Amino acid sequence: MPEKTLDDLFLDTLKDIYYAEKQIIKALPKMARAVQSEEGKAAFLKHRDETDMQIQRLQQVFELIGKAARGKTCEAIQGIIAEGEEIMEEFKGSVALDAGLISSAQTVEHYEIARYGTLKSWAAQVGYADAVALLDANLQEELATDMKLTELGEKSANPKGAKKVA
Ligand SMILES: [Fe+2]
Ligand SMILES: [Fe+2]
Repeated sequence: MPEKTLDDLFLDTLKDIYYAEKQIIKALPKMARAVQSEEGKAAFLKHRDETDMQIQRLQQVFELIGKAARGKTCEAIQGIIAEGEEIMEEFKGSVALDAGLISSAQTVEHYEIARYGTLKSWAAQVGYADAVALLDANLQEELATDMKLTELGEKSANPKGAKKVA
């Protein structure tokens, strides 16, 4: 059996995030329906559209390296999304619902940021310059989304969620 290389690890990780994005694109409309604030709804729907584009960029990366676009089950994202669904059920109708949803969405973003950061540097190391640009485009959208969620969490959801407790 040939020794595994960084190229193999890159492909494995690419399949992981490809699977993850396909789960995320299904979860975002559900979160948009569940969230109470209009701004939260708009943010989730906007990111749903961005995710559609991100999936296309990943398909381009697969093409660049001459591999079929195929996902590999990622238990980490399944777990993060399941936690979000749990919050949707358990905090339904409560003032803390939006804070919980924004927090789960941020956990998703942080997972993606970790993956894209890694993939981008490995792509540079193995010499896939065009892939670097595509992965960076996805990374920048995740970073911007994370910042937007922080802003939403701070100004609307969190204070409102805390009011009832106080
Ligand atoms: Fe994404
Ligand atoms: Fe994202």
